[in-house]
This record gives sequence, structure tokens and C-alpha cells, in this order.
Amino acid sequence: MKVLVIGPGGREHAIVRSLLADPNVSEVHAAPGNAGISKLVPTHAIDANDPDAVAALATKLTVDLVVVGPEAPLAAGVSDVVRAAGIPVFGPSKAAAQLEASKAFAKEVMAEAGVPTAMARVATNAEEAADALDTFGAPFVVKDDGLAAGKGVVVTNNRDEALAHAQSCFDAGGTVVIEEFLDGPEVSVFVLCDGRNTVALSPAQDFKRIFDNDEGPNTGGMGAYTPLEWAPEGLVQEVIDRVAQPTVNQMAHRGTPFVGVLFVGLALTSRGTRVIEFNVRFGDPETQAVLARLKTPLGGLLMAAAKGELDKVQPLRWSKETAVAVVVAAENYPDTPRTGDRIRGLKKVESIEGVHVIHAGTRLDDEGKVVSAGGRVLAVVALGTDLVEARERAYDGVELVQLDGSQFRTDIGGKAARGEIKVKTPGAGAAATKAKA
Ligand code: AMP
Ligand code: GLY
Repeated sequence: MKVLVIGPGGREHAIVRSLLADPNVSEVHAAPGNAGISKLVPTHAIDANDPDAVAALATKLTVDLVVVGPEAPLAAGVSDVVRAAGIPVFGPSKAAAQLEASKAFAKEVMAEAGVPTAMARVATNAEEAADALDTFGAPFVVKDDGLAAGKGVVVTNNRDEALAHAQSCFDAGGTVVIEEFLDGPEVSVFVLCDGRNTVALSPAQDFKRIFDNDEGPNTGGMGAYTPLEWAPEGLVQEVIDRVAQPTVNQMAHRGTPFVGVLFVGLALTSRGTRVIEFNVRFGDPETQAVLARLKTPLGGLLMAAAKGELDKVQPLRWSKETAVAVVVAAENYPDTPRTGDRIRGLKKVESIEGVHVIHAGTRLDDEGKVVSAGGRVLAVVALGTDLVEARERAYDGVELVQLDGSQFRTDIGGKAARGEIKVKTPGAGAAATKAKA
């Protein structure tokens, strides 16, 4: 099987790495890729957001499957054009990608499908925003309705700050979604979908804020680990039964079937499991950790999803080890990051047992040296027998990365390793946990 992977980031590097380990995958290409990806497979310098360019490349390379990584090409309709060219695609249509591209649309589908989520209101001007903020009270949650690379959400106790964020979205010609605040730990569950059937991957936890202890502004994600020892036993089944399957059924009913990965962002609140958001692609950097543990060959799985054959897939096989991914970000990320700096020490990082490096914002300079080219530069991914060992290995690796001005969080998986995460979720999950204890 020949596969073309679309996208430039860490998620795509992780996908390429896993595809190369699939015995049924004979050839992998990537576009546009990054420095890490180009060391593994041929890369092609096209605009990943241009549907015709992607379809033309896929046709020229005679690939059997196109895997679309990021949300932007999906929202631009890349899957539709490639599919129309007769090539199977892992990734939703433009219409189905609205589940991520519009938070208001996602809320509408969740309501139709009976999916538990935060109460929310759409606001189109300052007066409506103020009214919604006062309805739900503090902490305030204000979300840019459109795609914002994880940075369009402000959660604050300061009403003026909440209003100012809403106003900046209105000024840019957009609308906002204002929500009730959800307490409790957050979980990312990736559910493979083929338009009808669903298969969940092992849950992961992401760290959205830039600084330790969840302080500072939101980012695309600063690190992740999986599996979640502390998660209620029934969680994955609950996500399938109450969230993913009803959503997939509803999207099919609407005539816009969902094919690809439904990324369910959850809060395990004291009132039960609630969806915080849907994304329509793998999470970054969760994928770096999740795929490091997946033993089932990835190419076959993604092809089964693309072809509507997930019901024929055997139960997934996972490594018993724990995986941790720690992101090394450029100076000044998530604001305008500093780029163009040499990155050294990566070979040494990979000489640590169980550790590998996944590139995100990197490129090769004129001399073929790896330099930074984005906000999140790379992730050090480590496997270990437990979370404590995986964290030690990951941070040993991070310490060896040399990049001027770089920053990373020191607490990825820290609370979980110390047994400090408490779930107060009532219902099926909590009952299962009690029965186990
Ligand atoms: P989103 O882009 O919707 O994933 O939001 C980004 C981050 O903001 C989430 O990962 C949460 O940490 C936080 N967030 C979003 N919605 C809520 C909510 N209703 N209550 C509490 N935190 C939220
Ligand atoms: N890590 C969260 C995301 O990919 O949106």
C-alpha cells in the first residue's frame, strides 16, 4: 500500500513513523512535511490547503490512500477533491469538518444527537456577549467561533477580559460561543470513524497552557501522556455510546457522513462527562504519545476507515508501556515565535532508551542543518514501564535539546505520576471505578 500524508507538523511526523512500521505499507510520501519527515520519506513542496494540488499529487504518485493531518486542509475541502479523483481518503469532507471549523455547528449537532456538553450561547455583538456572560457567571468561557489553532478560547474570572476577547472576535468579523465553565480533568479520545462504525483509541491527556500548573495563555498543546491510569474504567465505552456513535449516526442522517478521526475533547466534571470540543483530526501532541503505543498496524486501520470497513477490524493491540510527549517550543510562543535557530543534540536525545524525537516546526537550512521554523518546534517522546519512568526518560531527552530561547513545561504527566488527579464523575464510569476498588 502506498500512502500520502498531508501536513507539516508533529502529528504528521508521528503518523509517517507509524505507517513505516506497517508491513503492508510499501511506500510513504508526505506534503509538505518538515525536517524530521524529510529524513524518513520523500516530501513534496505543495500547498497542503489547495485541494487541486493535493489531488494532483496523489494522482501522480498513484497512492492508494491519502491521510490528511491538520484541520485547515480538511476545512478547505481537500478530502472532497481527492475522493472525487477516486482515491480513498482518511479525513472528513468539508461539510463534516464543520464539526471543528464552527463551534456553533458542533453545538447544533451535539444537541441533535443528545451528546452531553457545556450549555452555550452564540453571541454576535457586545450586548449579547454581556448577557451570555452574566447568564453563566464566572469563570467565563469565550470561544472564537472559527478555526483558531487552539488559541481562540479565553477562560477567565475577569469579566472585562472576557468581553474584550469577544469584542476582538466581533471586530475581526466573527462571532463567539459563550459557555458554562466545566470543572474536572480533561481527556482527549480519538475515535476512528468510517461514516458508520467507530473504533476508539486509548485516551490521552494534553496540556494546553504554556506554563507549568496550567498558567498563561492557551497553546496548541505543550505535552501529552497515555494511557490514563486514573480514568474511570467505563470511560471509553461511555464516549462511544454517548458521544461518538450518536454523532456519527447524526452526521450520516444529515447526509454528511463522518470519515476520519473524531477527536473528542472531554471534561470529567462533577456532574458527569461533558464534551468540551470536537476536532476532526488527530490531536497534536497527543498523537505522538498515542501512536507510540499502538501495535496494530496503522495503515490498515486508516484504510479500513477510509473504505467503510472498520467493522472488520480486530480489537486494537497496545503496548503495555506508558508514553509521554514533551513539546519543546520556540521563544515567545504562543505569541509570535522566534524562528531560524539551529537545533542541536537530537542524536544524543535518541540514544536514550525508549526515546525518539518528533519534529513539528523544523526545516533544513541551506546547509542541510535542522533549524526552528514554528512555535512548537519538536516533541521528545518516551516510552517507559510506567509514567514515572517514561517522564524521566522524556525529560532526560528534553534537557539534551539545544535551541536558543526554547521553553517547555516541566509538569507533563506530573500530577498523574503523583496520583493527584481526582475524578468526581458520577454515573457509569464512577460506578465501575467503585466496583474495581
Ligand atoms: P477548545 O478550543 O474548545 O478545546 O478550548 C481550549 C481549552 O479551553 C480547552 O482545552 C479547555 O482547557 C478550555 N475550555 C474550553 N471550554 C471550556 C469550558 N466550557 N469550561 C472550562 N474550560 C474550557
Ligand atoms: N492538542 C490539542 C489539539 O490538537 O487540538
